[in-house]
Amino acid sequence: MSSLTLLYNEIAQCEKCGLSKTRTMVVPGEGPEDADVLFIGEAPGWHEDKQGRPFVGPAGKFLDELLAAAGFKRTDVYIGNVIKCRPPNNRDPLPPEISACKQWLDRQIEIISPRMIVTLGRYSMARYFPGKSISRIHGTAVKRDGIIYFAMYHPAAALHQFSLRKAIEEDMRKIPRLLEDTATGRISDLVREDRER
Ligand code: URA
Repeated sequence: MSSLTLLYNEIAQCEKCGLSKTRTMVVPGEGPEDADVLFIGEAPGWHEDKQGRPFVGPAGKFLDELLAAAGFKRTDVYIGNVIKCRPPNNRDPLPPEISACKQWLDRQIEIISPRMIVTLGRYSMARYFPGKSISRIHGTAVKRDGIIYFAMYHPAAALHQFSLRKAIEEDMRKIPRLLEDTATGRISDLVREDRER
């Protein structure tokens, strides 16, 4: 059994926070174990909770379109979330839920070892760009310890606001170039090396 499948079995048993009582299914994430790019959203919504798969509702359809426009197949990339269970009525995840769930995302990242991590929305952005504002840093990348971190708006937000839609489309189209540059060892002008940490 693959390392991710073993991890999914553990996540399915998780009762580390109260969301385990209200969920229909856990939504661990999906994609290849050796994906180059890992997208991190916020939390499952209604559709994801029913199907046990990330980004399968309207925001997911839009994410699929964005990926296709940038030349990716959904099956090429890994898609996960900060929180693995749906918060009731799609409320924002609470700090204790985020902390309880952190170990799962940490272990996914360790197994997948992606070249690039793309944050979708505020909650995943906060993990890698604490204290930053999404309107300022979306579409910019930093490189830390060999991994490129790239912040984007959440597809659900961009779906309903035309100005964000254009921004998220442009940001997604930067990803292939960022990946190509890491493959050749060249630092793209889109990336800032982070020496602050
Ligand atoms: N929004 C998210 O952040 N994640 C999903 O899986 C679906 C919608």
